[in-house]
Amino acid sequence: MRGIVKRVKQGLQSGLPLRGGLWAYDATHPDAPLPVLPGAAQDWTDSGFPGVSRMRSINVDDPLWEALLGVGLPAGRAERAQAEPAWELYAPLARRDRPLVLAQLGQSLDGRIATVTGHSRTISCDEALVHLHRCRALVDAVVVGVGTVLADDPMLNVRHVPGPDPARVVIDPRGRVPDGAKVFRDDGCRRIVIQTARVPRPPGVEVVEIAADGDNGLPPRAIVAALAELGLRRLLVEGGAKTIARFIAAGAVDRLHVGIAPLIIGAGPVGLCLPPIERLDSAIRPQAQVYALGRDVLFDCMLGSSGRLAEGPGGSAGLSGP
Ligand SMILES: NC(=O)c1ccc[n+]([C@@H]2O[C@H](COP(=O)([O-])OP(=O)(O)OC[C@H]3O[C@@H](n4cnc5c(N)ncnc54)[C@H](OP(=O)(O)O)[C@@H]3O)[C@@H](O)[C@H]2O)c1
Repeated sequence: MRGIVKRVKQGLQSGLPLRGGLWAYDATHPDAPLPVLPGAAQDWTDSGFPGVSRMRSINVDDPLWEALLGVGLPAGRAERAQAEPAWELYAPLARRDRPLVLAQLGQSLDGRIATVTGHSRTISCDEALVHLHRCRALVDAVVVGVGTVLADDPMLNVRHVPGPDPARVVIDPRGRVPDGAKVFRDDGCRRIVIQTARVPRPPGVEVVEIAADGDNGLPPRAIVAALAELGLRRLLVEGGAKTIARFIAAGAVDRLHVGIAPLIIGAGPVGLCLPPIERLDSAIRPQAQVYALGRDVLFDCMLGSSGRLAEGPGGSAGLSGP
């Protein structure tokens, strides 16, 4: 045991304002208690971090994947499936009865998502790529910023696992995406562009116009609401960092997947850049589970229920949950 777990009432503990509930006190950092997930006290001894389970591998066999896609589990398999890490990771994304905003980033050990020239394709390992395609297959739509389209010209479809292709959404306020970009290709999927300027788009591309909130850009919650109006309620915000940061700062992300690859890039754009805070007690400390993804480590963070910015009026807490 590296520390102790205490149940505390709301109020001051060792001079620190705490919510009521379970808090863990690490012997080496007694002034920085951390909230503990219900039932996670044992996990702390495994991982060293309260609320973070020991790392487990994801094993997705065909019946489990078909169940997640909504095909149904074979008789006798349900109980076993629900005990598997893969079920814990993907079942919340597979639920069709509630809206969800999942954001994902693959970054290096030094927190970078690309080189200075914008090259990012091989940061994450093959297993992480398969994981990304599973996430795409489980949502209604994938959302990216124009910076990612200009840098990578991504297809945003599902190729590494069996499953349906999501709708593709590009946030391109000023109309910078060229008509020939792969995201606009007519392959039977819905293609949507979110913009402020009146820019003509290729035939078949749906245009959603949203007014900018001054220098703050397009309000992410307005984007989520507009997509919900189009029947797209489960979203994967796949990048880049600027787009994800705007969604997190607006409290519009329920779940955040951060994959960390054992790679040091040294320079280039960093993963998440949010408005500055003065003290660490204002930092977002989401409940998180950790998974091994090949040589990478995946943090599955629940922002909706514990994110600092998600708790404000009209926050997305109601959207979150397993
Ligand atoms: N490692 C990874 O997981 C990963 C994933 C995706 C991308 N990437 C890499 O990330 C880089 C691109 O990322 P990035 O952060 O520079 O760009 P980005 O997030 O893809 O796009 C940012 C741009 O999208 C528009 N935008 C997005 N949300 C907006 C909002 N709420 N309001 C107004 N405008 C909004 C703005 O366009 P305007 O500037 O036109 O106003 C903004 O500058 C590329 O190098 C790509 O390879 C890495």
